[in-house]
Amino acid sequence: MGRLVLNQLSRSFKDVKAVDNISLVVEDGDFLVLLGPSGCGKTTLLRMIAGLLDPTSGTLELDDRDITDVPSRRRDLAMVFQSYALYPHLSVAKNLAFPLSVRGADRRKVAARVAEVADMVEIGHLLDRKPKELSGGQRQRVAVARALVRHPKAFLMDEPLSNLDAKLRTATRQELAALHRRLGATFIYVTHDQIEAMTMATKIALLNGGRLEQVGTPDELYDKPASVFAAGFMGSPATNLIDARLASRDGKITVTAPDVEAALWEGETPEREIVLGIRPEHLVLEELDARSFIEPAAADAALRGVVELSENLGREQLVHCRVGELRITAMCPREQRWEAGTAVVLAARAEHLHLFDRASGRRLEWQAEPTLASAPAANDDAAHSSGRRAAVVPA
Ligand SMILES: Nc1ncnc2c1ncn2[C@@H]1O[C@H](COP(=O)(O)OP(=O)(O)OP(=O)(O)O)[C@@H](O)[C@H]1O
Ligand SMILES: [Mg+2]
Repeated sequence: MGRLVLNQLSRSFKDVKAVDNISLVVEDGDFLVLLGPSGCGKTTLLRMIAGLLDPTSGTLELDDRDITDVPSRRRDLAMVFQSYALYPHLSVAKNLAFPLSVRGADRRKVAARVAEVADMVEIGHLLDRKPKELSGGQRQRVAVARALVRHPKAFLMDEPLSNLDAKLRTATRQELAALHRRLGATFIYVTHDQIEAMTMATKIALLNGGRLEQVGTPDELYDKPASVFAAGFMGSPATNLIDARLASRDGKITVTAPDVEAALWEGETPEREIVLGIRPEHLVLEELDARSFIEPAAADAALRGVVELSENLGREQLVHCRVGELRITAMCPREQRWEAGTAVVLAARAEHLHLFDRASGRRLEWQAEPTLASAPAANDDAAHSSGRRAAVVPA
């Protein structure tokens, strides 16, 4: 078992609140990724879980037992550090054996277990080498293997892939995810890399300035970012964020900004200042018809702009446009070339628009009230913009 509960954990260093009142449940078998920009408190939080750092306030439970005051070596957690922290004067075999022999385990059992975990991460042929005779990727495997030898209740890892080159990082990412599935153990994994988080996590805890910004599955964070920060952090290229105004007009909820118009579902809302978020992959580009400003097909929002630059990424292209004062990026298929200076409409569907309260930065949610007569079928493209009444409320 390895179920961890964090209750209002905080840690300050003098006047810096490195971790600020974080409550979180990590279920047994979760692959929890602590994600966030540099300095947001990930390592501090992980070190408190490991018992290497005392909280200023708050408590920690492991399998229903309060471990806040339990010393690190009795917590039954294994840590993999970014630096790997291998003993340079010991062979790989002895590095792996160390966590067991230091606890007085039987020598034959230790040797058998070392062979077993070396097999698991495919370093059996390296057992006689010293750490300095290994590549970065091999050292990383040894560090993981050393964490494995003890059957800990949970694995704690602090950016364990950051010293590897891009190709090895991708391969090791897949191996770690496979290892997690095989072991079924709890992993808590620190990274600032959203791709690592999206690909490996069963659950992501997004941190910002020591506080918990959002917790959820990778899909939840991507599809329903809880805040402007979450929308901006998840996804590459970043979500386009536009200061706009929410209002109702002629029974429809509208969003407006310079050169931006969106008429959404039917409904009423008090006027408010918002931030509109649209991911680049949800914008469809059309050349602006010279005759008039047309409403592009299947669009609920239209942005008028001018192409500034397009970047060929191989599989698709990024088209950067000037919309009012803003730079808006769309991800488009490569077939069509977009010349700088072309006047365009960037269109998006209502369900791809993210609305956030400007003052609080928090997500505003549509509360649709489908009526029996007009409840749209799930796949009915035409239905999404009609026949549904909505109110806009904080999520
Ligand atoms: N021992 C310390 N003394 C003083 N301040 C500290 C100490 N450790 C961390 N901090 C501060 O606490 C904040 C959080 O640091 P932390 O190392 O947890 O960030 P992080 O999210 O792991 O960042 P990174 O991605 O750069 O590793 C930072 O502002 C940092 O400067
Ligand atoms: Mg760190």
